[in-house]
Amino acid sequence: MTFNIDKVPAQAGKVAIVTGANNGLGFETTMALAKKEIEVVMACRNLDKAEEAKAKIMKVNRKAKLHVMELDLSELDSVREFAGAFTKKYNRLDFLINNAGIMMPPFSLTEDGFESQFATNYLGHFLLTKLLFSTIKNTPEARIVSLSSLAHKWKDIQFDDINFKKSYSKRDAYGQSKFACLMFAIEFDKRLKEANINAKSLAAHPGVSATNLFNNMPKPVAWFTSIFGSFFVQPAKDGALPSLYAALGSDLAGGEYTGPEGKGEMKGDATIVKPRRAAKNEVMADRLWSVSEEMIGEDFVVQ
Ligand SMILES: NC(=O)c1ccc[n+]([C@@H]2O[C@H](COP(=O)([O-])OP(=O)(O)OC[C@H]3O[C@@H](n4cnc5c(N)ncnc54)[C@H](OP(=O)(O)O)[C@@H]3O)[C@@H](O)[C@H]2O)c1
Repeated sequence: MTFNIDKVPAQAGKVAIVTGANNGLGFETTMALAKKEIEVVMACRNLDKAEEAKAKIMKVNRKAKLHVMELDLSELDSVREFAGAFTKKYNRLDFLINNAGIMMPPFSLTEDGFESQFATNYLGHFLLTKLLFSTIKNTPEARIVSLSSLAHKWKDIQFDDINFKKSYSKRDAYGQSKFACLMFAIEFDKRLKEANINAKSLAAHPGVSATNLFNNMPKPVAWFTSIFGSFFVQPAKDGALPSLYAALGSDLAGGEYTGPEGKGEMKGDATIVKPRRAAKNEVMADRLWSVSEEMIGEDFVVQ
């Protein structure tokens, strides 16, 4: 079965957060949620870019309810400030779309001392979800969607050097971060079910979609993609469909992973796809959870 967004009814009164809403998949996800009359908080690190993106959406959808708020996921303090400001303003959160991400930058550590891809793609979202958890719990049937990738197959969690301080592979570090996002989504759903909480956690991947994410790729790859891209890459609007399916699909029970149905899951309509087996390894998931709590300096208890 594949997902048809046109069949999803309008959902006025509901509230969503989309991280990295100003560009690429986040932008398209915001556009589609706003079309369903959902109020969307655009959580972005660059407010000028975010306002520009908001204006672009308002141009085609005058009734869109959009609110720009600052969030830099690579800084734990920024995540805390954002969560504080959000919970002051809103008392419900129906959809948390943990979308923002970076891919394969040169090695750097964040101010908090963490490898930049792990910090931005995974750890910032782990803290964000933790800080918004009481609002999520108070919202009937809330959904949390974590963006993973085909790249989750590249790497397990490297617990002995999670920050790649000994030796950096930008590919492995990206793979680790996306594996962590997927593992977290599955483990979080398990914990929600055990605690009898009426919310679902899911993961989604867009296949391969033409966005700014590839800006750090070597020039020949960018060149090849720009010429032959349309054969195996899908536009961001289609790349957003797995996220939208995970958020809005009425047939999903929680803990599922969505992605494109085409060959190699590179493009096509959104459907349920299979994570690699290690993503469901409960011992590793438990360890990742504990290590993440240590890194953010806070417990995340699901009850
Ligand atoms: N495109 C693909 O083929 C593909 C494949 C698999 C998975 N994904 C995943 O899909 C998600 C969205 O990527 P995309 O393709 O839409 O890439 P994109 O066009 O580069 O968009 C990424 C978004 O994340 C934001 N962002 C980056 N670092 C941030 C930070 N520290 N704090 C807050 N926001 C930050 C960016 O903001 P700025 O505009 O300010 O940089 C941008 O809005 C990512 O998680 C990515 O890993 C994409």
